[in-house]
Amino acid sequence: MTRRKLIAGNWKMHCLKKDGVALASKIAELYAGTDSKAEVLVCPPFTILYSIANAVSDSGVLIGAQDCHYLDMGAHTGDVSPLMLKDLACSYVILGHSERRQNHKETDDLIQKKAEQALKNGLKVILCVGETEIERQEGRQDAVIKSQLMGSIPKTAKAENFVIAYEPIWAIGTGKTAQPSDAQAMHAVIRKEISKILGAKEAGAMRILYGGSVKPNNAKELLSLPDVDGALVGGAALKAEDFFAIIQAV
Ligand code: PGA
Repeated sequence: MTRRKLIAGNWKMHCLKKDGVALASKIAELYAGTDSKAEVLVCPPFTILYSIANAVSDSGVLIGAQDCHYLDMGAHTGDVSPLMLKDLACSYVILGHSERRQNHKETDDLIQKKAEQALKNGLKVILCVGETEIERQEGRQDAVIKSQLMGSIPKTAKAENFVIAYEPIWAIGTGKTAQPSDAQAMHAVIRKEISKILGAKEAGAMRILYGGSVKPNNAKELLSLPDVDGALVGGAALKAEDFFAIIQAV
């Protein structure tokens, strides 16, 4: 089973318009100049999605958002809907990032509703799962991840429109990464669980990204693991050269 690797940049709450456009233009320029086989995605904040969409147009670099509501329109002050993201030329939306689970009390149930609506609108979903440091110390990481997957993958998910991102919370923004053997073991657990939820065919074809302090110096090792099909990159996605080096590590 060959799965096309996906390198996705999660810009989080970074970049004003000028810096964001410069960053995206540089990434687009570098990517357009290679024969890279990786699929490349940048996920800027909502406020500059339109500008970034223009900056990367025709380069092959895709854009995505970092969250969405579970409805298309309505009285929901401050929210952004999947229909609106589609209208802005987004291809993807990241859902269930641990920063949203923790800071906005997002539950598996809510994330599942968001995912379902995103898929209905033709957006592809990157569903994030991950355990805390304590959960890993107590040996509960597999159970935690399985329950997140079971609770948040909608029945309509398919390998072509759905991606899982395994991001151990203790590795996000900390400079610590999972040991390659631990990352591979967890990705295999995830693939097995997807098989239970969606069947073996979808599980075999679905991409599972690793995230958490992916940098140019560790990307190659992580990306060469059999069940690692790409990376969700935070900090290193904010420097065009670093992000491009990770793309080149594919
Ligand atoms: P990081 O963030 O690469 O800065 O650790 C990854 C993420 O949160 O998606």
